[in-house]
Amino acid sequence: MAIDYEYSDEEFEVENRMLDAEYSENDADTEISLRPKRLDDYIGQDKVKENLKIYIAAARERKEMLDHVLLYGPPGLGKTTLAGIIASEMNVNIRVTSGPAIEKPGDLVAMLTNLGENDILFIDEIHRLQRSVEEILYPAMEDYEIDIVLGKGPSARSMRMKLPHFTLIGATTRAGQLSTPLRDRFGVLFKLELYTPDELSSIVSRSASILGYEIDKGGAYRIASCSRGTPRIANRLLKRTRDFAQIKGDGIISDKIARITLDALEIDHLGLDNVDRRMLETIIKVYRGGPVGLDTLAATVGEEAVTIEDVYEPYLMQIGFLSRTPRGRCATSLAYDHLGIPFGGNDNQTSLI
Ligand SMILES: Nc1ncnc2c1ncn2[C@@H]1O[C@H](COP(=O)(O)OP(=O)(O)OP(=O)(O)O)[C@@H](O)[C@H]1O
Ligand SMILES: [Mg+2]
Repeated sequence: MAIDYEYSDEEFEVENRMLDAEYSENDADTEISLRPKRLDDYIGQDKVKENLKIYIAAARERKEMLDHVLLYGPPGLGKTTLAGIIASEMNVNIRVTSGPAIEKPGDLVAMLTNLGENDILFIDEIHRLQRSVEEILYPAMEDYEIDIVLGKGPSARSMRMKLPHFTLIGATTRAGQLSTPLRDRFGVLFKLELYTPDELSSIVSRSASILGYEIDKGGAYRIASCSRGTPRIANRLLKRTRDFAQIKGDGIISDKIARITLDALEIDHLGLDNVDRRMLETIIKVYRGGPVGLDTLAATVGEEAVTIEDVYEPYLMQIGFLSRTPRGRCATSLAYDHLGIPFGGNDNQTSLI
């Protein structure tokens, strides 16, 4: 069977904008207002919340600051939101920066020395810190001290400088890329998981009420089930369904309106878009179900390997469509069923199990 693998850049753009869990400029207007400010408003991630409540209560009782926290998980699951919540629950200031924004060690030194006692320093995309910058963090996190070098050449001297006690919160989509010395200096590691449709449904209803949109249960649930377990996507779909509700309906976001919107966006009832379907189809038709290596797959579908790993795979694995084996990615029988392709068993796959 002939498969068309030619897709224009423009098509990619349109698809990515909607279901890509990564932050885009279009999210800016609502993202801030929709961010829960307290732990009780933060929906889902129960295990993380439960533990965090204890750590926060204990630290507050001892009048100490929280241990350094590393938040990791796919984009759009609420890492930045959680960092803000920790600051408000601890009642301390938070300074926000990101790995790529800290260009040289001096930038980080300036930030650290300007922190107040018990402040939080939030470093987003912490896996992208440069090595020389990262090395400043080690003594800072461990002993609240930094070494600064005064002067140049043979007369240069190193001086230890005391820092205020602070909590570092690091966020990353790729915990595996963090160096071991850095990872080991975090006392608390939280992995954020994809949300269930029920949790996302509550998030959608909450967002709708903040934004003043009218939505019923069916509408919220429909959006939730097509949001790939990701609040950022759910909020984005909510905005689009509202447009359809206004123009094609009576303003209320119902199941029917949500379905019309999703159809128009070519998102199916499981939340898969063209990129997902193309990826699965490629594995099935070109690589006979897999295994296929990540880089090969990325080249064939025309996506970057990191994007496939961070954005597409987590959800496809969560719904059981894709499995990762030591030899590469495999499409499961569920994926064949979903695409309406007969599953004749997969020799390559079974030999791996
Ligand atoms: N548990 C939650 N309850 C309600 N809303 C949430 C929750 N988690 C995330 N959100 C919403 O999703 C949006 C994206 O969350 P956030 O920016 O914190 O994700 P992130 O994990 O930091 O993403 P990135 O990896 O791209 O930095 C926020 O605007 C917030 O409104
Ligand atoms: Mg973030």
